[in-house]
Amino acid sequence: MYQILTFLHSTLRWLVLGSLLIAIIQAYRGYNLKLKFKPFDNAIRHWTATIAHLQLMAGIILYVKSPLVKYFWNNPGEASKKLEFLFFGVLHILLMIIAIVILTIGSALAKRKEEDQAKFKTMFTWFLIALIIILLAIPWPFSPLAHRPYFR
Ligand code: HEM
Repeated sequence: MYQILTFLHSTLRWLVLGSLLIAIIQAYRGYNLKLKFKPFDNAIRHWTATIAHLQLMAGIILYVKSPLVKYFWNNPGEASKKLEFLFFGVLHILLMIIAIVILTIGSALAKRKEEDQAKFKTMFTWFLIALIIILLAIPWPFSPLAHRPYFR
């Protein structure tokens, strides 16, 4: 179960990043070239938020199942001295939830805007902030906080 979850969570990361990148580029183009906000743009907005929410659910289940997180909460004093436990016990979940809340607000605001340019601009700004936070909070193999492989 734990292995399947880490595989799923690790793989979903690429879908989260890919969809966010496409949405940001599409919003940037739409705003700068003054394009119409088409149903395709709306689908990208919608699916980017949905994929992030799926990752949030996978993350929450993984958080409950992870032996690393269990150890952290059973021995908070001792575990906090090791960066990896602190990272997965607190930092990763906190930053990712903040990023997904920002993404969700941006998606909802963009949906409610009347003008096409305002929709693109809102999507671009909020999604870009979410992407930056997500990139910082991923345990990349080169991250100084905690490292995990690119693929499971
Ligand atoms: C966009 C959101 C997120 C992304 C891109 C992301 C990405 C990742 C990646 C790449 C890993 C390493 C997986 C591996 O072991 O190969 C990981 C680990 C983990 N993530 Fe996330 N994550 C996100 C959100 C969350 C959230 C919201 C939670 C908790 C509610 C969470 C909990 C965890 C836990 C507990 C681990 C480590 C489990 C372990 O090693 O025992 N993640 N995450």
